[in-house]
Amino acid sequence: MLLTRDEMTFDFGGAKLDPTRDRDMLEWMLNQFLYGEVTGIQIGHWLYDAPDMEAARFLARQSLEEMQHVDNFLRIMGMLGCRPKPAHAAVRFLATGMMGGSWAEHVALEMAQGEGFVLQAFYAIIDTLDHKPSVDILKRAVKQEERHVEFGEQQTAKAIAGKPWLRRRILGLSLVSMWGVNRLAGFMKKRLPADHPVLRHLPAFLAHANQCAELRLRRIGVLERPLAELSRGKRAALVAEAYGGKALGGLGSLLTWPIRILPFYPKRKRLTDTYLADPHVTGFALPAPAAAEDLAET
Ligand SMILES: [Fe+2]
Ligand SMILES: [Fe+2]
Repeated sequence: MLLTRDEMTFDFGGAKLDPTRDRDMLEWMLNQFLYGEVTGIQIGHWLYDAPDMEAARFLARQSLEEMQHVDNFLRIMGMLGCRPKPAHAAVRFLATGMMGGSWAEHVALEMAQGEGFVLQAFYAIIDTLDHKPSVDILKRAVKQEERHVEFGEQQTAKAIAGKPWLRRRILGLSLVSMWGVNRLAGFMKKRLPADHPVLRHLPAFLAHANQCAELRLRRIGVLERPLAELSRGKRAALVAEAYGGKALGGLGSLLTWPIRILPFYPKRKRLTDTYLADPHVTGFALPAPAAAEDLAET
């Protein structure tokens, strides 16, 4: 990976998340991660677009790993007495609705940046969650996530080599996702309890995540100089250019849109819509009180 664990680690000053006191918050958070791992099914789409055998083999292996991560989160939720519930609409949109439009967008935005962001959140849980069995599961999973991020970084560098227009498009789209993280930090500053030992650090944690995202863009070669040196106008132009290119690329789907909204047009439900009712997921779910007793015994 182009960033070390040390660079990506945020210092929570030894503050801990308590599995009993913070159960509601942990349940909410774990459900966002669970949804994120179920979106691993999208790898099937990218396997069809893989540029070479090495990339195809990587994706085939990654898809198995993401499915194992689904089980990891179900296991952690069972141990902590948390139940599988729907993810927040914004997370569903970011993870599914914003799916990349090309191989380059997928490896840059979903793998290097997106999974890089998730990896940082995993590091943060490992450092703060006061529940060793859960932390041990996450410690094994992060090794795989690190490989996914590294693959995203390498493939992004390959994709943009000799294509300055693609480099600018990836930069423009990355600026939008970093802006989203900034907005989230602003929202959290207003809403989160300022006296919670871990949660009060979240806005600063998100700012740190954005600094890491910028560093990653620079090391891949997407960003040639510090973001602070890019004027507001230049940034706006990059975003407009990126979305202009995407809009042109999406002209085909725009033309079929009137047909797709007709009532008889079949809307296929995917696993990301149905996983909560899937026997594999419901079979994992432990009744909360029993799980809480187990927890008290550990
Ligand atoms: Fe994963
Ligand atoms: Fe991953």
